[in-house]
Amino acid sequence: MESGNRKLLLEFVLLVALGVVVHGQGTRVGFYSKTCPQAESIVRSTVEWHVRSDKSFAAGLLRMHFHDCFVRGCDASVLIAGSGTERSAGPNRNLRGFEVIDDAKEKLEAACPGVVSCADILALAARDSVVLSGGLSWVVPTGRKDGRFSIGTETTSLPGPNDNVEVQKNKFSDKGLNTKDLVVLAGGHTIGTTACQFFADRIYGSNGTDPSIDPLFVSTLRQLCPQNQPTKRVALDTGSQFRFDTSYFAHLPRGRGILRSDQVLWTDASTRGFVLRYLPSTPFNLDFGNSMVKMGNIGIKTGADAEIRTKCSAVN
Ligand code: HEM
Repeated sequence: MESGNRKLLLEFVLLVALGVVVHGQGTRVGFYSKTCPQAESIVRSTVEWHVRSDKSFAAGLLRMHFHDCFVRGCDASVLIAGSGTERSAGPNRNLRGFEVIDDAKEKLEAACPGVVSCADILALAARDSVVLSGGLSWVVPTGRKDGRFSIGTETTSLPGPNDNVEVQKNKFSDKGLNTKDLVVLAGGHTIGTTACQFFADRIYGSNGTDPSIDPLFVSTLRQLCPQNQPTKRVALDTGSQFRFDTSYFAHLPRGRGILRSDQVLWTDASTRGFVLRYLPSTPFNLDFGNSMVKMGNIGIKTGADAEIRTKCSAVN
């Protein structure tokens, strides 16, 4: 082989090797199989115990992982308590399930001290919550470390209930997620509830009701959300708030989406096709797991810029 070619080949081999190493520094399935083989089962049994006592924790934990990943990456920054943190910022004020994560962490510290990150607990708890609600399982790559910073003002990267499709798409693409990821992950609203304040203007607007809502449904929603009861909560997927099914998507073509951000996924031509794709449960379940893995890899920290927290609510 000519020396020029040999050099090229060597460079190629080096690049491939580098690629493997870089990938190896990221998350991988079974990261704790040697260092804490019980890690995943401890998280699962803890989540199971809490969800059995209060089914609404499943939705809380799914949402918590999403809110963690969208701000500074999936680094458990959402769990840090204190004023000025993400946790105390507006979009996170109604997050639920912190005690479930703390409980799992306590058990993990007893079994394998200093090994399992809070960011990984969140990713595993989100998966377990979906499975406990009747969704299909997926394998969760682990090996995330916990960040040392949490800044409340950074929560503006989270999508809001009045965001149009353009804005929602931009917020997802800023995190490396595409339109398909957006629609399938919005399907997380198949479980859980929202406070009335996030859509009250759609049913009591000064300019009348939002024309994209089914008029029959407006009266149902007015009963569920009487005026001036902003903190009352209603299901995001009417009639099926604890079941991880596809009725969230089935409601959209009928004008029965709750948040404006849900309903526009049907009214906008660029997302409507995905809503139709997710009416049957197999594509929804399979794509949901795939997009959760993608979301779970946003901005993960694995190096010296991060740590394994001892308590999830505070940096070491
Ligand atoms: C696409 C843009 C999204 C918007 C605009 C949005 C907005 C919201 C809002 C306003 C609430 C009610 C919050 C409250 O009452 O305080 C909510 C709840 C919820 N969201 Fe989203 N969300 C989005 C995407 C997602 C994603 C990607 C997931 C997970 C994969 C998710 C999971 C949930 C869950 C499970 C709840 C119910 C929480 C509970 O019952 O405690 N959301 N969302």
